[in-house]
Amino acid sequence: MIQKAFAEDQSIERFLALALARVTERGAVAAARLRGRGDEMAADRAAARAMRAELDRLPIQATVVIGENDHGSLPSSLGPGETVGAGGGARLDLAVAALEGSTLCAKDMPGAISVIAMAKEGSFLRVPDVYMDKIAIGPGYPPGLVDLDREPSQNIEALAREKNVASSEITVCVLDRPRHADLIAKCREAGASVRLISDGDVAGAIFTAQPQKTGVDIYLGRGGAREGVLAAGALRCVGGQMQGRLVIDNSEKLASAARIGIEDPFRKYDMAELASGDVILCATGVTEGPLLDGVVFEKATISTETVVYHSFTGTVRRIRAEHRADRLQD
Ligand code: FBP
Repeated sequence: MIQKAFAEDQSIERFLALALARVTERGAVAAARLRGRGDEMAADRAAARAMRAELDRLPIQATVVIGENDHGSLPSSLGPGETVGAGGGARLDLAVAALEGSTLCAKDMPGAISVIAMAKEGSFLRVPDVYMDKIAIGPGYPPGLVDLDREPSQNIEALAREKNVASSEITVCVLDRPRHADLIAKCREAGASVRLISDGDVAGAIFTAQPQKTGVDIYLGRGGAREGVLAAGALRCVGGQMQGRLVIDNSEKLASAARIGIEDPFRKYDMAELASGDVILCATGVTEGPLLDGVVFEKATISTETVVYHSFTGTVRRIRAEHRADRLQD
């Protein structure tokens, strides 16, 4: 059925969106069992293992393009280059962060999510394990309104003008890191409010998609490159804007970029170069957060909240699920 859908150039969403939501639900539940235990790696691995088991039930053949770099050669690790799925169907690529914000989960703090994106082969930019400088805004703005190469004040003023508000009503989301001291100071000098997050910049960038809910208008700063690809996938679905540039500041990183075939590692990437094609992206909350509720364990049920983004139709679906606790094995 999936093969036929591809052959007829139909959207893959009808067939795989719910199946993919089940994958992040499983990852989130597995990670949530280890909330607050102080062990990032255990929670991360549990999420990856649970997602892998669910993915291997699907009638797909998919390659992990963006995955869990830290898990080395562990079985069921969802590392880059691994193939998953029960076979059959079209060739797909996956971008995965089994537990995005592992420290948030280990400390039982808000904002940890389990996230996966799927698209046809070749849709996600392959990135080395480096940082990326990022800028993201939500939907409804003219193309090119903001730019990674402009000063924070210029981007904030442009956004404020377009929103028809003062710069003081713009909120910038930034990862709370010493490397961002200058950026934070510049945003505040421009009059904006700065929302600092301690981790989890996939969600940080996606906050811009729903400023009325999250209060965030623009995401700025340096975070993981793989997180940049995932965020681009979600922002493409909602009609937002994003740009990213790899941070290549030594010869080792230059070599790792060359190894995966990146010709010009210093160039700026647009959202559609980071994540192209027909993208489905699912995220399930692990801990409570502005984007999603966390997993709730009750005596007989486990509740999850998942958001499903689909670029082909521009649809955003929220799925609240109650799983029978005795049927949901990790
Ligand atoms: P992990 O879940 O892999 O720990 O990543 C969390 C995260 O906050 C990402 O969201 C972000 O892109 C990256 O770490 C920032 O890296 P650093 O902690 O080195 O600043």
